[in-house]
Order: sequence, then C-alpha cells, then structure tokens
Amino acid sequence: MKILAIESSCDETAASVVENGKVCSNIIFSQTEHNKYGGVIPEIASRAHLRSISSVVTEALAKAGCDLNELQAIAVTVAPGLSGSLLVGANFAKGLALRLNIPVIPINHIEGHLFSGFIASSTLEFPFISLVVSGGHTSLFYVNSFSEYSILGSTRDDAAGEAFDKTAKMLGLGYPGGPLMDKIAVSGNPNYYQFPRALNSNDSLVFSYSGLKTSVRVFLQKEFPNGVPEDKFPDICASIQEAIIEPLIKKSLYAVKKCSVNHLVVAGGVSANSRLRKRLLNEAKKIHIIIPDLEYCIDNAAMIGFLAEKKMSVKDFYQNMELNFTVNSSSLRASKKEN
Ligand code: KG4
Ligand code: ZN
Repeated sequence: MKILAIESSCDETAASVVENGKVCSNIIFSQTEHNKYGGVIPEIASRAHLRSISSVVTEALAKAGCDLNELQAIAVTVAPGLSGSLLVGANFAKGLALRLNIPVIPINHIEGHLFSGFIASSTLEFPFISLVVSGGHTSLFYVNSFSEYSILGSTRDDAAGEAFDKTAKMLGLGYPGGPLMDKIAVSGNPNYYQFPRALNSNDSLVFSYSGLKTSVRVFLQKEFPNGVPEDKFPDICASIQEAIIEPLIKKSLYAVKKCSVNHLVVAGGVSANSRLRKRLLNEAKKIHIIIPDLEYCIDNAAMIGFLAEKKMSVKDFYQNMELNFTVNSSSLRASKKEN
C-alpha cells in the first residue's frame, strides 16, 4: 500500500511516500524566515507552509516515482503543533484525498516520533523506552505496542530543545540554537563551567530546564557584562550543552532499568545532538540504543506515514476513523493516561 504523508506542525514543511514499511521518499523543507527572530513566528510559519506545501508534496511523489493515482491513503499530522501550521497540512491532505477519493489518516506528531525507531531499526522490539526530546517536548514513554504506551515523566517547564534555543539566543548564536551550539561545543570543555542540573536525584523521571535558562542569563551578566569574548564560546557552549543532555541520559537509563527493558529509542530534534549520541552509545553498552538518522530525528513526514500504515493494518480501523477531524494544537491523545 502506498501512503502519502504530510507534516506541517511547526516550521518544517515535509512530505513522504511510504510503502509496506519502506520509506520511498522523505522531503523536508526547513523554513529559514524565523532565524532573524530567534524563534518560530506562528503567522510567518503558516504562510511559509502555504507557499511550499504543493512543491514539497510534488517532490516527494516524484522522488518515490509515485503517481497520484497509486496512492491508497494520505496521512497527516493533526496535533500537537501550531494551529495555523497544522491547518495548512490538514486541509491540503483533505482536499487531495477528496479529489482522489481515498481516506485521510490523522496522526499525532508525538506518536510519530515515538515509533520512529522502527524506521531506523528492524530489530526494535516492544516493550521499549522512548525519549522524545524536541523544541516543544521532553518526555519519557514506556511503549508496549502501537496502541499502548504511557508517559513515565515529562518536563515541568521548558523542553530541552527550548533550553538549547533560548540559551543560544542569549549568546547571540541565532536560531535554531541546538545545532549551532552542538557545533561550537565540539572544541570546548563540558566541565569548564558548572550549570545546574535540576531534579537530578537518581530516581526522578521529571525534567526541568527553566532554572538553567536563568542561571545562564545571570552567569553571562556577571562574568561577561561587555559581551562574551570569541575564545570563551566553546567552553560555555560545551558546559551548557552538558547541563542539558546529562539529565536526558541519566533519566533515560534509569527508566530502562526501572522498567526492565532492553531497548531505548531517542527521537525528536535534540536526538541529533552529537554529544548526546556519543555519550549514550558509550555509557549504555548493555542495552540497544536506537537513534534514527538525522532526517528521521527532526520533524519529518516519513514517521507520520510509517505510523499511519501500522494503524491502517489494524482490523476495523476504517470503521473507527473520524473523517471530519480537525487539528488540535496541544493534545497527545485523550485515551493515553499519564502515570
Ligand atoms: O523535533 P524538532 O525538529 O521540532 C519540534 O517538534 O520541536 O526539534 C527541533 C529542536 C530545536 O529546539 C533544535 O534546536 C533542536 O531540536 N536540535 C538540536 C540539534 N538539532 C536540532 N539540539 C541540540 N543539538 C542538535 N544537533
Ligand atoms: Zn517534532
């Protein structure tokens, strides 16, 4: 079965063709209009999605060698995300589906990240722990099946990606700050400065990053009131990065131990962080760590199409499907309970 998937929840316009669990194309267009503002501007994002969605979809179909008439369904992200951005993808999907007379499968963005480990690894098995860590989310999940999972712990304030982006902005690095900080940190000493690790006790699965943000602001005002000299950037970036990733590593490994599982999946934009990847692979040799390739870590439509195909393989799925769905900026899924 060939599925076209569309993702437009934030500032990436993405489309993919997925067939029988195989990704045939994965096109991601990252909006650069937001860089000068140091963060995503919702109105600009939805207008940029409108400008690019048609060509991104056309490119995904062409790269997969797929004709519109071969499609059996269209999957689209409907929550969570920016309402205006979600609406562009959802309405495009509905319009095209109406024209082709095929179903639209509404997919939750976080669930897409949650199961993206299957795109990266054919040996991934349930149950597993999944750390979803992005600009808007930092949560640990216990995943039992494609329809059963629970949240073990989340951030009580900022997401890890937000901590990267906001502290990078304080340093004048631009947006998005995560990849920029990652690059500069490579030549720095991660233990040069000590920034706080909140809720760092051995058995907590809850994250918090707002204190780190304040601590970096106070540090910069006190130590470098006239601006940070060029040669200090690597040590500062490496030290901030360490304060962000250390709780991610520690709590993920604790969750793996607590739930007695062998597989840990790390997904979402921050899982692209080179130091996080390196430390996890070095420190957890006895478990299987699955971190998808970069194009499946950041926001992408392949993960949306992959999950839609799984959902469609469930008996009676069509009977349970609401075709008049709308977008939702904040929900994960009503049926999933937080522990
Ligand atoms: O999953 P994603 O593409 O979009 C959201 O759903 O938020 O994640 C974007 C986030 C941004 O905060 C960005 O700074 C962060 O992922 N990010 C990184 C890296 N690449 C992207 N953070 C740290 N290191 C990176 N290499
Ligand atoms: Zn995401």
